[in-house]
Amino acid sequence: PRSIFMSRHGESQYNVEGKIGGDAPLSERGQAYAKSLPGLIKDNIGDAPLTVWTSTLQRTIQTAHFLPYTKLTWKSLDELDAGVCDGMTYEEIEQAYPEDFANRDEDKFNYRYRGGESYRDVVVRLESVIMESERQENILIIGHQAILRCLYAYFHNFPQADLPYIKIPLHTVIKLTPKAYGCDEERYTLPI
Ligand code: F6P
Repeated sequence: PRSIFMSRHGESQYNVEGKIGGDAPLSERGQAYAKSLPGLIKDNIGDAPLTVWTSTLQRTIQTAHFLPYTKLTWKSLDELDAGVCDGMTYEEIEQAYPEDFANRDEDKFNYRYRGGESYRDVVVRLESVIMESERQENILIIGHQAILRCLYAYFHNFPQADLPYIKIPLHTVIKLTPKAYGCDEERYTLPI
């Protein structure tokens, strides 16, 4: 049966600094993850065909770099746009926009960043990605935290209100295998 593999990009420079959004390159640990990924995937699928999807942001493209498969970049897979808060830490956001920060906590799924997006917006823009994924054989999606929460919730039929809190750790490959109802799941974490 076909599987959908998903992984966040390796640790980025912004992850290290606690900043959100942006287009930072991978940290050294992130690069180590990128180098280990081909072995993990190969051990799992052997010689079965696979297509790798990334966003247009360099942290996902760098994570996919060593994977010997066909690759496709999707603008729709770019991370949730944090608008005026892009590049800030959560502490800086709380200082600069205390009301927004509280509102987001109240209703994280519907909260839309000033000049940016909400999780609801992301769910809408992922529709085309999901439609295409249904037509594919094995795919590996190298994405971002908010994006993978939306995709994961879709495949597992999770309620939208819970979706912004799903744990999608770094340096972990999640393998989803659709069955008649829902999906089987396996997780592989690389000790990096
Ligand atoms: O911190 C990494 C990151 O991908 C940010 O770019 C993004 O804004 C955030 O995670 C999404 O997580 P949350 O919705 O919990 O802030």
